[in-house]
Amino acid sequence: MRSHLLNDTTAEQYRRSVTEGIERVAAKLAATDRPFTGVTVDALAPTIDAIDLDKPLLDTAAVLDELEDVYLRDAIYFHHPRYLAHLNCPVVIPAVLGEAILSAVNSSLDTWDQSAGGTLIERKLIDWTTARIGLGENADGVFTSGGTQSNLQALLLAREEAKTDSFAKLRIFASEVSHFSVKKSAKLLGLGQDAVVSIPVDHDKRMQTVALAHELERCKNDGLIPMAVVATAGTTDFGSIDPLPEIAELCEQFGTWMHVDAAYGCGLLASVKYRDRIDGIERADSVTVDYHKSFFQPVSSSAVLVRDASTLRHATYHAEYLNPKRMVQERIPNQVDKSLQTTRRFDALKLWVTLRVMGADGIGQLFDEVCDLAVEGWNLLAADPRFDVVVEPTLSTLVFRYIPAAVTDPAEIDRANLYARKALFASGDAVVAGTKVQGRHYLKFTLLNPETTADDIAAVLDLIAGHAEQYLGESLDRAS
Ligand SMILES: Cc1ncc(COP(=O)(O)O)c(C=O)c1O
Repeated sequence: MRSHLLNDTTAEQYRRSVTEGIERVAAKLAATDRPFTGVTVDALAPTIDAIDLDKPLLDTAAVLDELEDVYLRDAIYFHHPRYLAHLNCPVVIPAVLGEAILSAVNSSLDTWDQSAGGTLIERKLIDWTTARIGLGENADGVFTSGGTQSNLQALLLAREEAKTDSFAKLRIFASEVSHFSVKKSAKLLGLGQDAVVSIPVDHDKRMQTVALAHELERCKNDGLIPMAVVATAGTTDFGSIDPLPEIAELCEQFGTWMHVDAAYGCGLLASVKYRDRIDGIERADSVTVDYHKSFFQPVSSSAVLVRDASTLRHATYHAEYLNPKRMVQERIPNQVDKSLQTTRRFDALKLWVTLRVMGADGIGQLFDEVCDLAVEGWNLLAADPRFDVVVEPTLSTLVFRYIPAAVTDPAEIDRANLYARKALFASGDAVVAGTKVQGRHYLKFTLLNPETTADDIAAVLDLIAGHAEQYLGESLDRAS
């Protein structure tokens, strides 16, 4: 069994084995003609259930054959131009190379003595990101597992900076279309049930700052503590960007921590054309960025950045075995001092290899392309009487709904759209997402693939209309 350990004696086997896996994936990617096979849980589960994990195949090729049946064949392929559903980007090859290297070397980024150069690379990427944001000389941050963890950590720091034990009095202000991880964080941080105050959005799905000012004032008058405002730079559904400069003003006025959730909109930090859309982000106290959403990085790759490095001390604990206090005096950089995690992947390497191969402009151009594609999609939808489309895109999502001319019952239209999404998924021809707008069911395209064309969008719209019409036709038959 020692022959399976990766070391000096098995380097050749490592090369063979990983190459074999890469060959399979490469062949798969080349042959994928749909984003999904449409397999159902009931059809796939027995294949996986039947595998006896206590009876190994003892042969890599056989395992890869088996993997074809249990995973590769039916996986959802984000690289396919008709995968248009969630915030999953196709990944760039330099990042995948980084991923292969980091898992083989397997550095753990908690301490210098488990990563050495890895620590410095991560720190340099954090500095690069804070400079792109414009957070100033004292900024810092750390890589995290994703936007959810970044938001949690940012709000932990905000809670501690509020300097109170009366957690029940703390309030977080976030728009009604902010990410649910804000509410989840409030709960995890021990805040009260009413801790998150939902601020209405305007027609473009951006936080209404007049309403925010009103709520901040009310909070103060009620003797409560405005702990943080979460501004979203790229809402999950609409890609809308809250008015960052106005929010920054209000945060300053009320002495409130400003967190910018740029999990999605962070792609604009590299944008060649649209960077100004996130102007004002430089005034944040903390920022969430998800490189795995708009920097074309594999999951996971995310970071939380802060204006004042010293606030990261709220996540610092010392353990004699790992990062004793004396190491701080010795100026040994232990990233665990800043992180909610202990053992931690060297995800930063993926971004490093990407920037060194492609450069930031390369990433930014790809993101600009999907923003431009969304405008093309908007034009198609706005001109198509079969669809109602919600807001003009700021980033790369489109929220819309099929509205048949002959049907007026909104509940029936809901059902037709829900059906269309399901039927499309089952066909595997395309994958789209769904959401609710003012209580009604809508469909969503999240465009993150520069290979997707306006023709793809038009074709998927036709498929959606076809499925919805089929549902309505059958529904009429049922009624008669
Ligand atoms: C605006 C926003 N914030 C946070 C998150 C959570 O990010 P993650 O899924 O990486 O935890 C998402 C995910 O879609 C998001 O859209």
